[in-house]
Amino acid sequence: MNYVIGNLKSHKNLAEAQSWLDAFMAHDVASLDPHLSIIICPPYPFILIFKEALAQFHNISIGSQDISQYGAGKYTGEVSAFTLRGLATHALIGHSERRTYFHETDVTVSAKVDQARSMEIAPIVLVRDEHDLIPDGVDMIAYEPVSAIGTGHNMSVDDVIAMKKKLGIDQSHMFIYGGSATSGNVRDYLSHPEIQGVLPGTSTLDPDEFFSLLERASYIPQ
Ligand code: PGA
Repeated sequence: MNYVIGNLKSHKNLAEAQSWLDAFMAHDVASLDPHLSIIICPPYPFILIFKEALAQFHNISIGSQDISQYGAGKYTGEVSAFTLRGLATHALIGHSERRTYFHETDVTVSAKVDQARSMEIAPIVLVRDEHDLIPDGVDMIAYEPVSAIGTGHNMSVDDVIAMKKKLGIDQSHMFIYGGSATSGNVRDYLSHPEIQGVLPGTSTLDPDEFFSLLERASYIPQ
């Protein structure tokens, strides 16, 4: 099974989130490959809106863009795994933007993975290179080279595979690539037997481009 994980980052206000959903659902979403697993990660305040609007599509689920390293309690502003349970099936953990702007470390990433797991939320750990730790037992690992994020300079499939080897990721993991993934290049990644998913940011922002990307990601012979 292949994955497309759309990351809306800190984009969209309420009206824009609703327009995004309207425009996305104006497409023939049911025509997409039922074996393509689509995970959309909206900003926290819109998780419920996305979840409810897209509930009819069994291959679309909702992910959170982060998760607290702490459990429920006196942690003002944090969103815990306990809160997210039932709202999000997956959580992105350790995005390079969180590591850069919010000083997340391998220690916080591991704590977040534990929190997610404790509430049966599947962690998707993002690494920038071989220096970022992959906590034990994580199934979904996204490799996102910083040079490719938001730049339009996606990394070649060969280079992505070379890094997969360096990271020591074997076939028991779902290996996902992120960094300027678009409708134009998604098939190159997903056609490769060693890559199970892509994680687009910019291409998620426009619902028409995101739908095109999903169409191109559909029905790829394995
Ligand atoms: P991008 O973002 O597709 O805009 O490069 C990917 C990401 O940061 O997850």
